[in-house]
Amino acid sequence: MWSGRFREPLDPEFEQWQRSFAFDVRLLPDELAASRAWARALAKAGIFTTPELASVLQALDTIAAKAAPDATDFPGVEDVHQFVEQELVSLIGDTGYKLHAGRSRNEQISTDLRLYTRRSIDAILAAIAALASAFVAKAEQYKDDVMPSYTHLQRAEPVLVAHWLLAWVEMLLRDASRLTDCRRRVNVLPLGSGAIAGPGMELDRAAIAKELGFESISANSMDATSDRDFELEYLHALGSLALHLSRWAEEMALFSTVEYGFVQLPEPYSTGSSAMPQKKNPDALELLRGKAGRILGAATALQTVLKGLPLAYNKDLQEAQEPLFAATDSVLAALPIATGFMTAVALDTERMKKAAIAGFLNATAAARYLVKKGVPFRIAHSAVGQAVRLALEKKCELDGLKLEELKQFRAEFGRDFFASLKLESVLASHNVPGGTAPGRVRGALAEARRRITEIS
Ligand code: ARG
Repeated sequence: MWSGRFREPLDPEFEQWQRSFAFDVRLLPDELAASRAWARALAKAGIFTTPELASVLQALDTIAAKAAPDATDFPGVEDVHQFVEQELVSLIGDTGYKLHAGRSRNEQISTDLRLYTRRSIDAILAAIAALASAFVAKAEQYKDDVMPSYTHLQRAEPVLVAHWLLAWVEMLLRDASRLTDCRRRVNVLPLGSGAIAGPGMELDRAAIAKELGFESISANSMDATSDRDFELEYLHALGSLALHLSRWAEEMALFSTVEYGFVQLPEPYSTGSSAMPQKKNPDALELLRGKAGRILGAATALQTVLKGLPLAYNKDLQEAQEPLFAATDSVLAALPIATGFMTAVALDTERMKKAAIAGFLNATAAARYLVKKGVPFRIAHSAVGQAVRLALEKKCELDGLKLEELKQFRAEFGRDFFASLKLESVLASHNVPGGTAPGRVRGALAEARRRITEIS
C-alpha cells in the first residue's frame, strides 16, 4: 500500500501488531458505501470513464454480496480499506487502483466510523423505544397500585407504581434524546478532506454527502480527518444509558429481596445456586448493573487516547475503534435483556400497598393539612413530628391517635384530619403536572406512549 519509499521490510511482529483488519472488518458495509459514492465523484471529476465507473460499482457490489470475510483468512491485509482495494483489483485489475485518487485512509476511517456510529445510534434508539414501551406496559398493568417511595432508602411518601415506573421512562427518553442530538453531529461527511489538506482536485462533495445520507459536509479538512468528538459524545450518551440501566437493575434486585418483597424475579431471567438449593438469584439484573463498567470504561479509554494528540491524523486514532465497537455491542445486547425482564416481571402489589400504608408515609400530608389551616410549615412539621413520636410510643400510625392527643400539639387539628391521612387523599393531593395524583399519572402514561413513538 505504501512500500515505495522503503528499502527494508517491516519487522514481522510489528507488522502484525499494527494491523486493524481483525476489528475494522466490521466496517466493510460502510467502506463499500463510501467507496461507491467516492467512485461516482471521481467519475464526475473525470478520473473514471463511464465504463470504468460501471465496472468499479459492479465490483463493489460483488464484494458486498460475498459473505463477510474472516480476517484470519487474509493474513496479508492491514485494514478494511486495503481489503476493499485488493478485492477490487483482483476483480477488475489496475483500474481498481484508481479509486484511491484524491482519497486517504485518514478520511476513509473517519467516514466509515461516522456511518457505523449513525447506524448504531438508529439500532440503539429502536431498542430504547422497545424497553421504554415495556416499562409503560408494566405501568399500565399496575396503574391502580401503590407503593412506598424512598429517599435515603427510607420510606418517604406513597406513590403510584406507574409513577415509579415512569420515572425510569423519563431517563430512557433523555438517553434517546441525547443520542438523537449526537446523531446530528455524527452525520457530517469527512470525505473530500484528503489526508489532511484536501483532495487536490475539484470534487462534488455535496453529491457524496447526499448519496451517503450525510446532513452536512465537514468545514475543515484538518479537523475532519482527526476528529473523534462524535464518537466520544456517543460513548458518553451510552454511558448515561448504561448508568440508568445499572441503577434500575440495582433497585429491582433490592426490591426482589425477601426484605422488600415487591418484585418477583421471573424464572427465565434468574438463576439458581449450585450450593444453596433455595436460591433464586437476579443474575440478569446483576449483569446489567455490571455492564455499566465496561461501557463507562469505553468513554474513558477513548478520551485518554485523544488527550494530547496534535493535529491531524495520528495512528493512535486506530485505538479509538475497539472501545466504540465493544460499547455498541454491549448496549445492543443488554437492552433486549432488560426489555425481556421488564415484560416478564411480576410485582407483589399486596406487599407494596402494605408498605405504603405503614410507617408514617402520610406524615408530610399531615403537615400539609396544618398548613392549609394557616399554620406555618416549619411549625406544622414540628407538631406532626411530635405526633409521630407519640404514635411510635403507642405503637400505632397517625390515624390511631385521638383528636385530643393531637390537639395538645396544635389546636388546628380537627375531625377532618383523619380523612386527609387516607392513602387516596394523600395521592390526590399531588395534583400537579409531574405529580403522582392518579389523574396526572394517567395523563403521563398517555404522554409517555406518545413520546416513545417520537424516538428516532
Ligand atoms: N487503520 C487505520 C485507522 O484505523 C486507518 C487509517 C490509516 N492511516 C494512516 N495514515 N496510517 O486509523
